[in-house]
Amino acid sequence: MGRTFFVGGNWKCNGTREEVKKIVSTLNAGEVPSQDVVEVVVSPPYVFLSLVKGLLRPEFHIAAQNCWVKKGGAFTGEVSAEMLVNLGIPWVILGHSERRLILNESNDACICPLIPYIFSFQFVGDKVVYALSQGLKVIACVGETLEQRESGSTMEVVAAQTKAIAERVSNWANVVLAYEPVWAIGTGKVATPAQAQEPNTERDCKEGIFVDLVEINYIEGQVACYVTQPIEKLGTLGSVQVYLDIGLSHLSLEKGGDMPSHVVHFELRKWLQANTSPEVAATTRIIYGGSVSGANCKELAAQPDVDGFLVGGASLKPEFIDIIKSAE
Ligand code: G3H
Repeated sequence: MGRTFFVGGNWKCNGTREEVKKIVSTLNAGEVPSQDVVEVVVSPPYVFLSLVKGLLRPEFHIAAQNCWVKKGGAFTGEVSAEMLVNLGIPWVILGHSERRLILNESNDACICPLIPYIFSFQFVGDKVVYALSQGLKVIACVGETLEQRESGSTMEVVAAQTKAIAERVSNWANVVLAYEPVWAIGTGKVATPAQAQEPNTERDCKEGIFVDLVEINYIEGQVACYVTQPIEKLGTLGSVQVYLDIGLSHLSLEKGGDMPSHVVHFELRKWLQANTSPEVAATTRIIYGGSVSGANCKELAAQPDVDGFLVGGASLKPEFIDIIKSAE
């Protein structure tokens, strides 16, 4: 089932009026594939939403970076989903890790201390469901911290975050799921397939078994690592049972630690299949965010379960056009 490639540009808390105009004129001048090949959505700060909407080429769409969890009212500083709809903004990013970690938005129930009998909500899931109910489309973000990744709980964390959304959402047609490992955001570290094959000397070489990995495939819940040269170097193999196929002999290892990002995408789709429906799993776009750049986008886009990107830093630069073009 076809999933149109999706490229989101999250401008975060950046830009002046002049800088925003410059970014928009670069976007407007860029030669990019048509809308049936790639859907482009940029997300300026609230204060520039109307400016960008007025200037941006019509085939590119706009997202807010957040919205209030329920209907608007006496919530100083907040912007409601109804307001975004009223402004003609079709998309909103929710559950971004910067809001989860810095502003404490979580999967857990939060009871308002002032009026607990009126307000009790689970921030991310309730925001998603309320925004959808108002007619917004949602880019819902999930992702593990470095500590969680290193302890081998990547899938447990992203599954719990996805569950908090999935148990409230019945119609996934307007949801894009963004997998953004926190350790990759703004750090220049990106879990490409190539990196997944690089040696991680500290952690993975302790068994003293070294092979030269040339390809990693995910098959039936196992990572199959095909090697050409026996016993040379060890790649980063993931927190799953790993089979090293060396000629006719097989060797299996249990390892902790890293899991390539495309494996997380595969696992997330499997999770959706088991916990929502095969149709939702087949049609929901799972996009990747975390240090995506003009230089690494092609390789990432080639992964079958990577349906696009949520780009931070590079979305402020002309290379965003190259990232859009990686859809081709
Ligand atoms: O929303 C975007 C992500 O936080 C990625 O940011 O591309 O600057 O790493 P980054």
